Amino acid sequence: MILIDTHAHLYLEEFREDISAVLDRADKAGVDRIYLPAIDSSEHLPMLELEAKFPDKCLAMMGLHPCYVKENYLDELQLVKDWLAKRPFAAVGEIGLDFYWDRTFEEQQYIAFREQIALARQYELPIVIHSRNSTQECIELVKEAQDGRLSGVFHCFSGSYELAKEVVKAGFYLGIGGVLTYKNAGLPAVLEKLGLDHLVLETDAPYLTPVPFRGKRNESSYLSYVVAKLAEIFSVSPEEVAEITTSNARKLFKSTFP
Ligand code: NI
Repeated sequence: MILIDTHAHLYLEEFREDISAVLDRADKAGVDRIYLPAIDSSEHLPMLELEAKFPDKCLAMMGLHPCYVKENYLDELQLVKDWLAKRPFAAVGEIGLDFYWDRTFEEQQYIAFREQIALARQYELPIVIHSRNSTQECIELVKEAQDGRLSGVFHCFSGSYELAKEVVKAGFYLGIGGVLTYKNAGLPAVLEKLGLDHLVLETDAPYLTPVPFRGKRNESSYLSYVVAKLAEIFSVSPEEVAEITTSNARKLFKSTFP
């Protein structure tokens, strides 16, 4: 079984002590590749160091996370631009809107999102979207920019069936992780109607740990619990879930599969 973790922050402090063991366990669980979403410049170096240390396993993205759009966001955007001009990245991410924590910089979040979508188009890269309490708004921005060439994923999708259909119609994938295993999540019913063809797997490690480890640190090897849940929802084997979602992830990150 070959799995791809399309979203994990394995460069964060939570993993500094035992990253080699974390990656070994990922290997044993069949996780072949792990895509690292950027947050802001304070984490660029740890992210790029992790990628340099494990180049076959860890692939970096570049972008400014909406929760880190603050007073200095124009400086941060400039750094994102500089990095994208300097070397290839797997995607522009994670970018988007977050209206859950704080709306102080709502206007700036929109500006940063639009600018980074433009960068993705310029470099022909997919975008990895963070859309907490803002899925509809993010879909609108994607539709506005969609010229048939924009692609990407709604990371940690947890919306309604109607929103899921809109995401697929916009040509995007849905990132599915530990939330799927949570008791009050309405997600299984939504996905059951939608099918497997537009789903990719993700952990968002160290966050959003699947049951039975909910509350503990998440890591890429726990992807197998998400696979098991999807297999149950669709009444297929875990191998089939792996095959389809890995094939989707390869299409999503096609520039990293020469
Ligand atoms: Ni994330």
